[in-house]
This record gives sequence, C-alpha cells and structure tokens, in this order.
Amino acid sequence: MGLAKDFKQRYGPWAVVTGASSGIGEQFARLLAAEGIHLILVARRASVLESLAEGLRQQHSIQVEVLSLDLGSADFVDTLLETCAGLDVGLVVSNAGVAAKGEYLDMEPGELTHLLNVNCRAPMLLARAFLPGLTERGVGGFLITGSLEGFQAYPYSIPYAATKAFVHSLGEGLWGELKDSGIDVLVLAPGATDTELLPLSGMDVRDMPMGVMSAESVAQIGLERLQAGPTVIAGWLNRLMMGMLLAMPRRWSILAGGKGIKDAMEKSRARQQQEKADR
Ligand SMILES: NC(=O)c1ccc[n+]([C@@H]2O[C@H](COP(=O)([O-])OP(=O)(O)OC[C@H]3O[C@@H](n4cnc5c(N)ncnc54)[C@H](OP(=O)(O)O)[C@@H]3O)[C@@H](O)[C@H]2O)c1
Repeated sequence: MGLAKDFKQRYGPWAVVTGASSGIGEQFARLLAAEGIHLILVARRASVLESLAEGLRQQHSIQVEVLSLDLGSADFVDTLLETCAGLDVGLVVSNAGVAAKGEYLDMEPGELTHLLNVNCRAPMLLARAFLPGLTERGVGGFLITGSLEGFQAYPYSIPYAATKAFVHSLGEGLWGELKDSGIDVLVLAPGATDTELLPLSGMDVRDMPMGVMSAESVAQIGLERLQAGPTVIAGWLNRLMMGMLLAMPRRWSILAGGKGIKDAMEKSRARQQQEKADR
C-alpha cells in the first residue's frame, strides 16, 4: 500500500536510513524507494547494503548511496555528513539499534558502552547534525526508532530499555521544540518484530508472548504516521498491552515486563538446547 500522495514532496528528494541492512531499516528503505525517494543507506555490512541498493536502483530508477559505517565509532557523523554533502536530505530515519538480554550483572562493560554508543549517542548526534539543515528547508522529517521497552524499565533487558527510554525522551523533546518548524519528528515504538534483533540477543521469535509483527508493517506504520508525533506504538495489540502495563502500579508493571522477558528468554534457551540435542 502506497504512502500519502504528497509524501515525496514533503520528505524527498533524499532520505538517510540507518540500520538499512536488515529488518525494519531495510523495509524503510524499500518503502521509501517505492515512493521514488533517493536513499543514503547506512549500516556496517557493505555487501548486504550494496545488493539491496542495486535492487532498488533497478526496480525504482532512484539513486542510492551506500555507506558502510559503524555508528558506534567516534567520528561516524563526519563521515556521514561528507557522504551527504550536496544532497538535499528531507528525511532522516535513525533506526539502527542493538539489544542485549539477560541479567545486568552478567553483561560486559564493553557491551554496555557499545549499546550506549549505537542506541543513544548515534541518534543524539544524527539529530544535531541533520536538524539544522532540515529546519532551514522548513519541511521534512526525523523518525527515530524506539521500542515498547522505552516506556518503562524492563528487568532482564535493563540497558536496552534504558537506551530506548533515552531515545523516547530525545525524540519527544525534539518534537516539542520543532513542532512549528515544518519538521515532523516521530518516535516509532515497535513491539516484538520479526527481524535479526531478537535472535541476535538469544531470543526466538516463536517464544514472544504476544507474537511478532512483520518488519514491513512496522516500517509502513512509521512512514504513514510521520505527522502523528511525538510517539506512535506499532500495532493495536502492542498499544493495548502497553496501555495496560502503564495503568498498573509501577512496581507491578516493572515486574510483569521483566517476567515476560525472562520467560521468553528461558523458553528460547530450552528450545536451543533441545534443537542441539536433536541434531
Ligand atoms: N525487532 C524487534 O523486536 C524490535 C522491537 C522494538 C524496537 N526495535 C528497534 O528497531 C530498530 C531496528 O532493529 P531491527 O529489529 O530491524 O533489527 P535488525 O534486523 O538487527 O537491524 C538492526 C540494524 O542496525 C544496524 N546496526 C547495528 N549495529 C550497528 C552499528 N554499530 N553501526 C551501524 N549499523 C548498525 C544493523 O546493520 P549491520 O549489522 O550491518 O551494521 C541492522 O541494519 C532498532 O532500533 C531496534 O532497537 C526492534
């Protein structure tokens, strides 16, 4: 299903998408390409980005720049700005993210620093780097991918949830400051989504208590609702669940959220052990 008729006029001609090599970011890229918007695709895996870019160029006759970049690196924003020099960027999708599940005391300090850099420092600097140009144009958008875990603390996913709370505060604050500037700022908060993120953090999508949404439907919601900021939760079931959690006394909602994650983690661990034993 296509986006609004004036989408390209409002958010084109160029869009930056971080985390475009898989999952929700790849789907953002595909949907934007279908609107005829030129793309700057950012992630670490160059070959994956290159093959996505080639397909999009051929299918939609658009221009696509590929930038293999570690968003956790000190000077990533300078490299990205160099790539974007001379390109009229109307939309920035700050979507790349990493997760970590498990007990906080088992996590390595280096892993925590990486989470902070990719999930918090990178969107903070992306916003600072691109919003002056966007506000000068007077039209455009800045979408930042948060999470249901951004709304409250989650035991067994403490650093990820904390970084997403940062993302929500950053995005919602920007929405407030920029709401009369012509720039649409949106925090998109997905629930469990069928991407590489869950398996990378040891979770099996089959063990998610509320099921998973497809990456395409999550990305579609984000682009359709760019003007519905400050925050949009993807999917009615996620909205219902989050509404219920937030209506509970804080102690209960934190414990309920943590229990959901711990149960899913244990199920996934048992499933992996069983599958290993069956081989
Ligand atoms: N899947 C879910 O259940 C879920 C739920 C709520 C929110 N989210 C959020 O949705 C966003 C997209 O995640 P996803 O679910 O689509 O996961 P994904 O398939 O794992 O995609 C993550 C993307 O981020 C990129 N990335 C990771 N580390 C990077 C780094 N250091 N530098 C540059 N790029 C990096 C990855 O590319 P490379 O590996 O090639 O670098 C990949 O393109 C994230 O912000 C995530 O927190 C996901």
